[in-house]
Amino acid sequence: MLIHLPEVLTADELARVRDILEHAPWQDGRITAGSIAAQAKNNLQLDDFCAESNAARDIVLGALERNATFFTAALPKRIFPPLFNRYTGSSNSFGSHVDNAVRTIRGTPQRVRTDLSATLFVSEPQDYDGGELVIEDTYGTHSAKLAAGDMVLYPSSSLHHVTPVTRGTRTACFMWMESMVRELDRRRLLYEMDLNIMEMRAQVGDIEPVMKMTSVYHNLLRMWAST
Ligand code: NI
Repeated sequence: MLIHLPEVLTADELARVRDILEHAPWQDGRITAGSIAAQAKNNLQLDDFCAESNAARDIVLGALERNATFFTAALPKRIFPPLFNRYTGSSNSFGSHVDNAVRTIRGTPQRVRTDLSATLFVSEPQDYDGGELVIEDTYGTHSAKLAAGDMVLYPSSSLHHVTPVTRGTRTACFMWMESMVRELDRRRLLYEMDLNIMEMRAQVGDIEPVMKMTSVYHNLLRMWAST
């Protein structure tokens, strides 16, 4: 299941992230790829410890912090520090691969199980050709090429690739997260339930059945979440 989160970054945040990344020291993207993914990976990436990465990452994490839809969709327990990549010129594609299941946060002993992957688009889609994120899941093949500031969330278990960028530059932020609810099916049920509860509240207010459904939601979350 792909979840499209629109306008995760405000116009101002987007402009700040772009400005930071414009002058950043991009390097070969194979630095974070596992050995199999490295063979498929042909893009540029920012060193995760450089000042530009830190500054842009803080803006992205701040935006995620206030995004209620992101929270209910991902139910995040740990977020691997967001990274930034760029597809341009001859470094322009990432062939089919699956993301590593467990990642250690550099410089720490902390491990993150990758339940969800996310791409937050920094470039506007009209500024490049190609650069589609193509995801194969149990429901078929889906692709995403979203407006700048939008994010797509998808299960890290999916095979995925980025089609070659044949014109312009595609800059994006990407990240992995461990969810409090490990199982995709359970996460999906909770997400759909929560969205509908919010919709019902908006339509009819906090009538008793809505309050009871909210209670069911929280009791399911309590049953399934590990924190
Ligand atoms: Ni990947």
